[in-house]
Amino acid sequence: MKARKIRQNVRWLGAVDWDRRLFDSLIPLPDGTSYNAYLVKGSSRTVLLDTVDPSMAHVLMNQLEGVPKIDFIVSHHAEQDHSGSIPHVLKKFPEAKVVTTPKGKGMLMDLLGVPENAFVTVADGETLSLGDKNLKFIYTPWVHWPETMVTYIEEDRILFSCDFFGSHIATTDLFVSDEGRVYEAAKRYFAEIMMPFRNVIEKNMEKLKPFDIQMIAPSHGQIYHHPSLIMDAYRDWILGPPNNTVVLPYVSMHDSTNRMVDHLTSNLVENGVRVELFNLTVTDIGKLAMALVDAATIVLGTPTVLAGPHPLAAYAAFLANALRPKAKFLSIIGSYGWGGKTVETLAGMIPNLKVEVLDPVLCRGVPSESDYAALDRLASTIVQKHKESEFK
Ligand code: FEO
Repeated sequence: MKARKIRQNVRWLGAVDWDRRLFDSLIPLPDGTSYNAYLVKGSSRTVLLDTVDPSMAHVLMNQLEGVPKIDFIVSHHAEQDHSGSIPHVLKKFPEAKVVTTPKGKGMLMDLLGVPENAFVTVADGETLSLGDKNLKFIYTPWVHWPETMVTYIEEDRILFSCDFFGSHIATTDLFVSDEGRVYEAAKRYFAEIMMPFRNVIEKNMEKLKPFDIQMIAPSHGQIYHHPSLIMDAYRDWILGPPNNTVVLPYVSMHDSTNRMVDHLTSNLVENGVRVELFNLTVTDIGKLAMALVDAATIVLGTPTVLAGPHPLAAYAAFLANALRPKAKFLSIIGSYGWGGKTVETLAGMIPNLKVEVLDPVLCRGVPSESDYAALDRLASTIVQKHKESEFK
């Protein structure tokens, strides 16, 4: 795809990766992704904001054919999907300086072997004049690495946010065209990438408040010409109270755990609690992560395998612990044949979660009437806790 104009002397460059289905060998990308870079031409200097994944460097380099000079390459974030083509750009424009934070400089030297004399580091709030346009660099650490920053063009009121506010979507529409689709993709992105750092991100959102932002141009997905769509969503995901929802990731081998999950779900739903079920043998982990953004309660369902939780349930616990959702309550249900330490093992895997652990329900073999009664008590407790907290 060719370069595309956003504003006068501001162009989108980059690559749309329609085929990519996995990020970091971990995160599902059902809709592909894009690596957005931007070329800003001032009256006296030209700057390239970020680059693209090295697998698509040729796309960017084709777009840069005919560009006579690049004075600066701004690297907002050292992860290779944005920085990986910097060496290619430096080869074509050896006089260009790489502008980044001091932490970003160290990372780019470590990850890409960019020579030290190629850098200009900037302080938080520093500006760079391109002549008739001024770039302001704002440190926004932990979106989602420690070195991250964003750039604001004062004259155009555009925020270039890199991963911050991004979404993994491959599309030929440069600007947001389907708000529902973008909302879901951005929520998936937030859940998988940003949620663990939501307290720091709240501070970054505060830092952005004084700026009149009329457009947000992230480095993944579409450009927001109505920034309130994504900024309001971030505020809700970060600061909003949890929903009256139970997220229930589970796995069953011989139907006992399955029966327990069904029973608990029916009771909760009858009593007004929303339940999102994820059979871990078929679940898109990104969907589970998204559900964790809002849910008030997590219930893990697992049989006992080799004296502990099923490995898929352990994976879900590990994931939830890593993503640090705002859930307030957690419980464990499941079955065993002759013993084991399923509850202890899972409970020991979630130290990051600030949850009240509700009495687990583990049954021997298939669930009995007393096991179903215990599930009813768990459901009543969840309903009561949600009501007390006035979760919607
Ligand atoms: Fe899109 Fe953290 O890289």
